[in-house]
Amino acid sequence: MLNENAVTLAPMNYDPKRPKAENPLKIEDLSLRDGHQSLFATRGRTEDMIPVAEMMDEVGFWAMEVWGGATFDTMHRFLNEDPWQRLRTLKKYIRKTPFSMLLRGQNLVGYRNYADDVAKVFVERAAVNGVDIFRTFDALNDYRNFEIVVPAIKAAGKHFQGCICYSLTEPRMGGDVYTIDYYIAKAKELEAMGADSICIKDMAGLIAPYDAYQLVRALKRSVKPPIHLHSHFTSGMSPLSMLKAIEAGVDIIDTVLAPYAYRTSHAALEPFVMALLGTNRDTGFDIRLLGRIDEVLEKEVMPKYRHLLDDTKMSIIDINVLLHQTPGGMLSNLVNQLKQMDALDRLDDVFRELPRVRKDLGQIPLVTPTSQIVGVQTVNNVLFDTPEERYRMITDQVKDLCYGLYGRTAAPINPEVQKKALKGYPRGETPITVRAASVLEPELEKAKEATKGIAKDIDDVLIYALYPVTGLRFLKWKYGLETPPEETRPITLEEVRRQEELVAKAKKGLLVEKPQKPAPAPSPNLRKFNVFVDGEVFEVGVDPLDAALPVQAIRPVAAPAAPAPAPAPAPATAPAAAPQPAPAPQPAAPAAAAAAPVAGTPLKAPMPGMVVRYLKQEGDSVQEGETLVVLEAMKMENALPAPKGGTVRAIAFKSGDSVKKGDVLALIG
Ligand code: CO
Repeated sequence: MLNENAVTLAPMNYDPKRPKAENPLKIEDLSLRDGHQSLFATRGRTEDMIPVAEMMDEVGFWAMEVWGGATFDTMHRFLNEDPWQRLRTLKKYIRKTPFSMLLRGQNLVGYRNYADDVAKVFVERAAVNGVDIFRTFDALNDYRNFEIVVPAIKAAGKHFQGCICYSLTEPRMGGDVYTIDYYIAKAKELEAMGADSICIKDMAGLIAPYDAYQLVRALKRSVKPPIHLHSHFTSGMSPLSMLKAIEAGVDIIDTVLAPYAYRTSHAALEPFVMALLGTNRDTGFDIRLLGRIDEVLEKEVMPKYRHLLDDTKMSIIDINVLLHQTPGGMLSNLVNQLKQMDALDRLDDVFRELPRVRKDLGQIPLVTPTSQIVGVQTVNNVLFDTPEERYRMITDQVKDLCYGLYGRTAAPINPEVQKKALKGYPRGETPITVRAASVLEPELEKAKEATKGIAKDIDDVLIYALYPVTGLRFLKWKYGLETPPEETRPITLEEVRRQEELVAKAKKGLLVEKPQKPAPAPSPNLRKFNVFVDGEVFEVGVDPLDAALPVQAIRPVAAPAAPAPAPAPAPATAPAAAPQPAPAPQPAAPAAAAAAPVAGTPLKAPMPGMVVRYLKQEGDSVQEGETLVVLEAMKMENALPAPKGGTVRAIAFKSGDSVKKGDVLALIG
C-alpha cells in the first residue's frame, strides 16, 4: 500500500545534533501515568519518578503524561500520597516538557459525572498545580460532557486535547455504529469546540494497522488540529498501527520507555526512534540518553514493582481482546471479581454475556467508567440471573446510565432493560435527554462543609468532593488524625533484595520452612531414646503431652459426652464479623448476664466490597426490597435490598469497612 506520504530516507546519522527532520514525529511519553497504570495497577510512587525526571525532561517529548486517569484515586486510596503534591514535585524536576493529564470529561478523575461547580474548580486547580495539556475524553463520546471543563481549560490558557474513544462492534472498523463517518463527525465536533489537538483514544488496542491508516488520512483531510494516536499494545497491533499512522501523516503518537512497554501498556519509544532515524519523520531523539534512562529505571525503580506485574502467562499479547474485544484492564477486573466470588469457571459465560449487555446498554465504548459498568453488570447477570429473569441485580451505575446521567449512548438502550432499571429510580422513571450534569445539584459547598476542621485548602476539599469515603480517610492520614495502615508504606530496594534472596534460595531448594510452633520447654516426664538408622544413632526425647497419665497400658478411649444441644439457627451476633467473646472466667457468672445475641434475618454481602453507607439505622423500620446498604464492589455501587420487612435489629459495619462475600451486613427482625 504505497502512498504519497510514505516516509523518505536520508543518510543515517546517529548524532543527537543531526539535522532536524522535515516533519519530525512528535512523541508524548506515558510512562509516568498510563505506563504504570497499565502494568502496575497505577501503583507508581512519586519518589520512583524522581530518579529519571530530569533526564526525561532532556529527551524532547512533546508532552509527558504524569497525572489524571486512575492516579488520583490510587494515590489517595492506596499510596497515602497527596495527588496534587505529585504535580508540584514533578514540576521542580521537569521544567521544559509540558505536563499532560487524562481528564475523564465531567467524570474528572472519578467514575461518575460530578456537579458543574466541582468540575470547573477541579480544572482550575489542576492548571494551577501544573497541568498544561488536558487530554479530555468522555466514555460515551457525548461532548456535551465537555461543556463545563473545556471553557475552564481555555480560561486557564491551557491546551485542550479532545479525544474520540475508539470502539468497534465488528472485528474491524465499520459496522453500524463506529464507521469512518462516525469518527469524522466526532472530530468535527471537537474542532468546533476549539480543540487544540485531536486524539484517537484506542484504550483496548483494537485499532488495526490499515484502519489506523485510513482513519488518520481521513481525519487529516477533514479537520485542522494536529492528530494524535493513543493505542494500547494489548492485542499486539499497536506498533504496526502506529507505523501505518505515521505513514498516513499522524502528528503525535504515544509511547512509553522500554521498561514500561508492551503487555496492556504501550509500544516502546526506542524502536520508533531507530526506525525513523534519518527519515523525514525522524524524532531527533538521542537513543543513548534513552538507554541511560532505561538503565536507571531497571536498576532503581522496576524491582520495586515487579511483584505487581502479571507474569502468570508467557504471552505478552492478550488474545482475548482480538477474540472478545475485552480490554486488558477490564479483563483483569472481571477475572478478579469472579475469583472473589469463587466463580472463575464462569469466565466463558461472561465472555458470552458481555456483548449482549453492551448492546442492551447502547453499544457504548468500553473505557473507564463504562468498561466497569458493563463488566460488573455482566458478572452480576451471569451469577444472579435465572432462566426466567434477566438483570436481577442491576448496579446503581447501570440505573444512572439508563437515566441518562452519563450522557447519550451511541445506540439506543434496550427499552425493556431501561424500564426495569428505572423502576423506583429516585430521580424519576423517565430518562433525561439534556446534558447529564445539568440535573446535578452543586456539590462544592457541601464538600466544604463536610471537611470543615480537616481540609486546609480547596485542593483538600476536592479530594473529598471526588472521593467522599476514601478522600476523608486520606485527609485524616495527611493531618495525623489517623495512622495510615502498614500497606500504604512504600517497599524499599533493601526489602526487594531480601525477598529476591529468599526466592533464589527457595528455587535452589535451600529454603526450609521454619516450624510454625516454637518448641516448649521439656517437662520432668521427658524420656530419652536412642534411634538407630542405617548404622547411625540419633538421640530423641519423648515428652508425653498428658503428663498426668504416663503411658502404662493401652486403655479403651472413653466415649465422648453426649453432644451439646444443636445451636439455635443462625445465632448471628452484631457485629457479625467480630469473633465470639471468650467465656468469662468467673464460673458463677450466670449465662443470662452475657449480651443476648440479636436474632433476625441476615442481609449478607453477595460479593466482597466496601460498605459505602447504610440507609437505615438500628431500630429503623424497613420494607422488603427497600435499599438497606450500598456496597461498592469493583468500583460500582450496588444497592442491597432488605430481604424482608421489619425492624433493623443490628448494623454490623460502618462506612468504609471492607466486607467479604457472605458477611452479615445487617439483621432484620
Ligand atoms: Co490509555
